[in-house]
Amino acid sequence: MKESLTFPSQAETLVQAIVLAAGKSTRFAMGSSKLAFPLCGREMVLYPVSLLESLSLPTIIVTGYQKDIVTQLIQAAHPQSVVFVEQVEQRGTGHAVMCTQTEWHAEHLLIINGDMPLITSELIQQLINEHCKTQATVSFVTAACLEYPHGYGRVINNGQKIQIIEARDFTGTRQEGQCINAGVYLINREFLQDALTHLNLHENSQEWYITDLIDITSKAGKKVHTIETDFDTIRGINTISELATAEKIIRERIITHWMKKGVYFEQPETTIIEHDVIIGPATRIGAGVHITKGSRIGARCTIGNHSTIDASTLADQVTILPHCVIAQSEIHDHATIGPFAHIRNTHSIHERATIGNFVEISNSTVGAYTKAKHLSYIGNAIIGERVNIGAGTITCNYDGVRKHVTTIKDNVKVGSNNCLIAPVVLEQNSMTAAGSVITQNVPRDALAIARAHQVNKENYTKRFESTPSFVAAAVHEK
Ligand code: UD1
Ligand code: CA
Repeated sequence: MKESLTFPSQAETLVQAIVLAAGKSTRFAMGSSKLAFPLCGREMVLYPVSLLESLSLPTIIVTGYQKDIVTQLIQAAHPQSVVFVEQVEQRGTGHAVMCTQTEWHAEHLLIINGDMPLITSELIQQLINEHCKTQATVSFVTAACLEYPHGYGRVINNGQKIQIIEARDFTGTRQEGQCINAGVYLINREFLQDALTHLNLHENSQEWYITDLIDITSKAGKKVHTIETDFDTIRGINTISELATAEKIIRERIITHWMKKGVYFEQPETTIIEHDVIIGPATRIGAGVHITKGSRIGARCTIGNHSTIDASTLADQVTILPHCVIAQSEIHDHATIGPFAHIRNTHSIHERATIGNFVEISNSTVGAYTKAKHLSYIGNAIIGERVNIGAGTITCNYDGVRKHVTTIKDNVKVGSNNCLIAPVVLEQNSMTAAGSVITQNVPRDALAIARAHQVNKENYTKRFESTPSFVAAAVHEK
């Protein structure tokens, strides 16, 4: 849903956003762009991009390093609202902004680093409102950082002049360097056009820094306005360790959101709920549970400790016992799964079905009230209602080349430890004997027994013990 802006109308002509997403991610050390790395199921660059979309701000994205990957994931999530500009050589944040000039049309440009996923729309609204109200030439966001601010530009304001000194050039004391630059700027377009021509190349890094604009603005006697926010809202991510810290904060935000909607978490600090998940009220979620994006959980469900629900749908009052993996599957009302069950690519486990310990179900449908309670593999099967699958039953669905379907109709009772060699059909109300290897269809109401006949040899052990070879062996052992 779009949020409405509180600053003057005509937002689109007033403010245009630029997201800087071309950097090389060197400090991330993964050999890939940090901007394409997901936090709680959403890639880093999509955080600022979604936020700008929710504010209806037209947005330019600067891409460069791994441009195709970054572009594709933005296009997949935001089909129309953005324009892409390529920064062919990554020569710094100032240079990235220079690359966008042909796309400018609004009165002010909002520049945001692409690596700050904790940023909120309230902060952007406040920045725009205050920038308009104070009629500043440049406004930017700062934060007081009490821990040592590794890698952040320090904001030095002596009352006369304000400037940002990059971490590597900062020589002041720890206390002098506590106010840091967040990496979010709102700048008058005409001024920016001119000021960019005054940026100097930094010899040591061979880059142009957007942060030098503050010094240029201040020296020109133009108004620079700052707004201070808390450090957690503007944390930037350069390293994997910073990513872990930010992801923890995002997890907490998501879980707090669901708590407010009546979802109970046994150990919230151990639980991961990704973005794009829906959870109904009075659902209980155990320790170590992970619910991935695209999952839909109904009301009054229980998800036991250390279970994963991956892009799956649970209807209402479903019980998932501990240590289950439910992936790309759909479980209907009142079904019970687990413990230790694995359900994948299964579009329907129907209502009140019971799937028990060490049961794997793949590419199948399971009818209402059907039970498979122990140690089974069910693959490519269509199982009707009120079926009972005995312990240890396996659908032998793969002949080494192709997969085949096992069809088990309503009210069938499959004995324990059966092998059902697919393709095969067990008609309604039929039964199979324990230990059977079922290779042929079983007719309606029939009992299929497909195992070797038992032969009892009377008094066999006594005769066996009196044979000369048995006696000799017993003597030898003594
Ligand atoms: C930057 C700021 C610093 C601030 C910090 C906040 C500069 C020079 N420094 O430092 O003052 O405290 O953010 O987190 O701006 N990028 C490009 N093209 C480039 C280089 C970078 O698009 O040529 C993008 C990156 O992908 C990233 C963003 O710009 O999303 C910021 O770049 P980064 O290298 O992370 O800047 P910092 O060193 O963190
Ligand atoms: Ca950064």
